Amino acid sequence: MRVGVLTGGGDAPGLNAVIRGLVVRGVEEFGFDFLGYRDGWKGPLTGLTMPLDIATVADIVSVGGTILGSSRTNPLKVDAGVERIVENLRSDGVEALVAIGGEDTLGVATHLTAAGCQVIGVPKTIDNDLSGTDYTFGFDTAVAIATEAVDRLHTTARSHHRVLVVEVMGRHAGWIALHTGMAADAAVTLIPEVPYHPGEVADWVRSRAQRTGYAIVVAAEGATAATGELVTKDASRDAFGHVKLSGIGELLAADLEQQTGLESRAVVLGHLQRGGSPTAYDRVLASRLGLTAAAALRDEAWGMMMALRGTDVNYVPLSEATGTLKTVPASRYAEAAAFFG
Ligand code: F6P
Repeated sequence: MRVGVLTGGGDAPGLNAVIRGLVVRGVEEFGFDFLGYRDGWKGPLTGLTMPLDIATVADIVSVGGTILGSSRTNPLKVDAGVERIVENLRSDGVEALVAIGGEDTLGVATHLTAAGCQVIGVPKTIDNDLSGTDYTFGFDTAVAIATEAVDRLHTTARSHHRVLVVEVMGRHAGWIALHTGMAADAAVTLIPEVPYHPGEVADWVRSRAQRTGYAIVVAAEGATAATGELVTKDASRDAFGHVKLSGIGELLAADLEQQTGLESRAVVLGHLQRGGSPTAYDRVLASRLGLTAAAALRDEAWGMMMALRGTDVNYVPLSEATGTLKTVPASRYAEAAAFFG
């Protein structure tokens, strides 16, 4: 069987480890033949391909990004997009497709399944906000990078008796902020799921600064004040309708300086959280997802997504991942709040 593979949406450390697991097991154990589609859905939409064999995947397990390239192309917004993909798969002799991506990429995969294509999904996002799976690969790496950054910011904030607001990724879900804030001892952590009250944030910052002389605030990019709105970079939207978030860090720093009288600065970690080599945990998780995706192809488990449940990797219907986002429960935020102030 000839299998097409693509990676879509924002990249995540571990994508190459998935590709390696899939290709190694698919070729060696099941005798599949793989074809790489470049740059997300743009690949099968426009016929952009690359060879994908055992030699191509050698030495990539530790490499960040994706050898296939990625994009936020949305074929559902292109004239006859699904039909063009179906036709290109047919002319490439591709019988099944493995789509590795987040809610948007897997949403398109669900549409293609409904249109009769043989699709398998692999969940990916540093934001860890996909339902159906306990953790997504890339998340552990993003948290490790953000934690190391905040550890470093502690020493400079302490030296200058400052408040430093660290803005991390997390559009709708505050998983990265939650874990980073707890691991790196933030005075307060703000997440999109729980709108914040500026006066309360200032109280936590004051109380920490009284104790230590400085304070670090970790804020997810999608955090909003109870009385405010989502802070966006500009008015533009991507092909899936998402706004570009950025600016909550600067807004909070200015507000905290005014409220507390403490000199405050903002640091935006941005795409640093997605770049570079994956942690060992992400390499192993991603490799296991790739190996299981090869087995799912053998089992003809069309319309299924690979998922981590506890310590096992299994299949769940794609619709489970794309129905609702996995947000931070109130109980997890309450745990983090035990360390505020
Ligand atoms: O991959 C998801 C994500 O990391 C979001 O947290 C963030 O808002 C977005 O990607 C930014 O993506 P880009 O700037 O690459 O479009």
